[in-house]
Amino acid sequence: MLDGYHLLTLTHRQAPLDWIGQALIRQEEPADALRDLKHRFGWEEVLYLPTCNRVIYLFYSSNPVAKSLAADVLTALRPELPGEQIHAMALKMQHLQGAAAVRHLLEVAASMDSLIVGEREIIRQLREAYERCLDQGLTGDHLRLLLRFTIETAKEVYTATGIGEKALSVVALAFGQLHEAGLSPQARILLVGAGQTNSLMAKFLFKYGYQNVTVFNRSLNKAQVLADYLGGRALPLDALPHYTAGFDALLVCTGALEPVITPALYHRLLAAESDTKVVVDLSIPNNVDTRIPHTFPVRYIEIEGLRETARENLAHREAERQKADVLLNGKLREFRERWHQRQVERALLPVVDEVRLAKERALTEVFAKEIALLDADTQALVGRMMGYLEKKSVATAMRTMKEIATTAGRRVAAASPA
Ligand SMILES: NC(=O)c1ccc[n+]([C@@H]2O[C@H](COP(=O)([O-])OP(=O)(O)OC[C@H]3O[C@@H](n4cnc5c(N)ncnc54)[C@H](OP(=O)(O)O)[C@@H]3O)[C@@H](O)[C@H]2O)c1
Repeated sequence: MLDGYHLLTLTHRQAPLDWIGQALIRQEEPADALRDLKHRFGWEEVLYLPTCNRVIYLFYSSNPVAKSLAADVLTALRPELPGEQIHAMALKMQHLQGAAAVRHLLEVAASMDSLIVGEREIIRQLREAYERCLDQGLTGDHLRLLLRFTIETAKEVYTATGIGEKALSVVALAFGQLHEAGLSPQARILLVGAGQTNSLMAKFLFKYGYQNVTVFNRSLNKAQVLADYLGGRALPLDALPHYTAGFDALLVCTGALEPVITPALYHRLLAAESDTKVVVDLSIPNNVDTRIPHTFPVRYIEIEGLRETARENLAHREAERQKADVLLNGKLREFRERWHQRQVERALLPVVDEVRLAKERALTEVFAKEIALLDADTQALVGRMMGYLEKKSVATAMRTMKEIATTAGRRVAAASPA
């Protein structure tokens, strides 16, 4: 049964983020702490997944698990914390077992339980967490089976539903609109500001091959970093009023609290060109004077409109989560079947060894004298026939047992809630 699977978790849904920080492993080498947990509680396998908004201890235990699991684990990990704090945190932790644990892991991997629904990043985090634990010898066959299935399922959820569709970050949305404006790769782009937001924007510009970017920033060194990355030019912010080379797109994003681009400056930057320019302003408050889009021919992309689009896109992803829910019901049934089949394979492994040994004994001991009297071709034929029989008998036994297990698994699944 799936009852051996357990998942102990604290997430953004139950607790503030600093509480999650308290439930993380503090030791320099988390594997030592996990080995200690395995040993202390008699778990066969364990996987540890810390992210910025959840911590998961996933383990497999054939032995019953105490009701006080959350408090026991927290005490083992953080013996220095006061009892009341452990108690309060333990109350917020969720302990899920069997199908509920499996389902939760599937939901996490498909980013259905994320702070931002549909962020695929979690699949990578989960895969890496598994690989780390595998390398440390902390996991075995049960978690291998579950993780493989979970990652396959998460990918299927992303393909079959729109849960990861439609960008949520304003930078991605702004770039999407800029790109839709149909600028050529040689378009003259002025990037004003070289902070985090424009650095992200630079990644999109680079990815889509924009090659003619001039970066202006208060600190020239930061402008230079972005300009080097983009193969462009860096200038100090106070060079902007003297810039006369014209532009096709002006991307402004700084921490300034007053407009950096005034109508007079904008007019100068136009260098007497009169075609429609693309202006992107992601600053809060706006850094492009709001009179500019009313005064000049501008395709204006600004943060308020983008935030609204981001909200609509998030609502779309939330709606798609319902489709993902239905898909997971079927997947859970599939995992039960796979698990039962795998148990059959494991149970049959000694039989497989027995059959192989019997074949070898037949060839090298029981019939060795008779075989020695045969010519080389006949000896080879006998060897091939014995190999064939070995494979056939093992395959037949596996197939029959798997069919029995699948039927049993389906019966259990039909009797259990998905
Ligand atoms: N980070 C986000 O996810 C995000 C998303 C949407 C919008 N925003 C908005 O975007 C703006 C910038 O955010 P950020 O995260 O990129 O900030 P950041 O990493 O702190 O960078 C700030 C940038 O603005 C420049 N700057 C700061 N004060 C200035 C001033 N008075 N005059 C001229 N330049 C100034 C800084 O120049 P130096 O290098 O010389 O310090 C730097 O280039 C803010 O209005 C923010 O609200 C941020």
